[in-house]
Amino acid sequence: MDLVRIFDTTLRDGEQSPGFSMNTADKIRLARQLAALKVDVIEAGFRLRRMATLKQFKKVAQEVRTVPIAALARAKKDDVNAAIEALKPAAAPRLHIFLATSDLHLRVKLKMTREQALEAIGSMIRYGRQHVGEVEFSPRMPGGPTSVFCARLRVAVDAGATVLNLPTRWDTRLPEEYGAMFTKVREYLGDPQGIALSAHCHDDLGMAVANSLAAIRAGVRQIECTINGIGERAGNASLEEVVVALAGAQGQLRGYDGHSHARAFPTSRMLTEITGAQVAPNKAIVGANAFAHEAGIHQDGIIKNPLTYEIISPQMVGVPARFDGPGKHSGRNALRMTLRDLGYEPSDTELAEVL
Ligand code: KIV
Ligand code: ZN
Repeated sequence: MDLVRIFDTTLRDGEQSPGFSMNTADKIRLARQLAALKVDVIEAGFRLRRMATLKQFKKVAQEVRTVPIAALARAKKDDVNAAIEALKPAAAPRLHIFLATSDLHLRVKLKMTREQALEAIGSMIRYGRQHVGEVEFSPRMPGGPTSVFCARLRVAVDAGATVLNLPTRWDTRLPEEYGAMFTKVREYLGDPQGIALSAHCHDDLGMAVANSLAAIRAGVRQIECTINGIGERAGNASLEEVVVALAGAQGQLRGYDGHSHARAFPTSRMLTEITGAQVAPNKAIVGANAFAHEAGIHQDGIIKNPLTYEIISPQMVGVPARFDGPGKHSGRNALRMTLRDLGYEPSDTELAEVL
């Protein structure tokens, strides 16, 4: 309970954005890779009342047995039943129930009162727990008075939820605000034994990873994230950035260092191959330029000691080799190394001429 767990939702939230659909074989391949990366939970799907999605989910759950598998459902009996069915083949199933609980959502979308929302939360979690050993609850887009919001969490805990996941409302919150929300929740709930708080951040303002780390500081023990940060709208917190940040925090964040970082880059490449959607070259950790240096001063530093300009060794996340291609801003040292790699040993005069 004290270590930060990685809940990967590439196959669910990640797939839920335009251009990221995956077929069954691809989902199984990616899920196996996520298991090798040692994530702690794989959320493998939603909309499980659809026969094709249900079949696909069951196959993933049958094939990947070393990691708990989560199924997402709205707080509605039909949806929950479909998720329970989908989880039958899973070795370690987790039912993830959500409800959009802001007053705006209740009034405009769900046509529910606050009281009806409370009743749906309690009854669906209680029902889910009769069939699945572990139930996670997400009050989607929290809003309104803290006391009302926390009362819903209390109902969820009393009904048997063991993970409380608090997605940000479109992620316009600053890290301090998001962290403070968890602090309040912990005060309200009095840190009940056996309950883990979880963060689920989207990158609408580029703060998904910062918000996730702020949540960890405030006591959160599960981070929901995706490979390459894919997901609804601007995407989710990027798994590779979160795990490297945790590994680099040197104990400050009480992170879990059991993830297999060396598979981060190959997993990112597997996903781009499956979806055809490339990551931006300047994407942190897995972008083509994340460990590339063109400026002469930087290349010179890297040759002398990589720690001069690199946060970690590229090999730590499975990047095969640094790409220090010579370019307009390169200097003498890097050019000599490149020529050497190509089999040339230029004299100083020749090198100056090439430069
Ligand atoms: O972003 C969100 O609110 C979600 C929930 C369903 C967890 O993905
Ligand atoms: Zn989401």
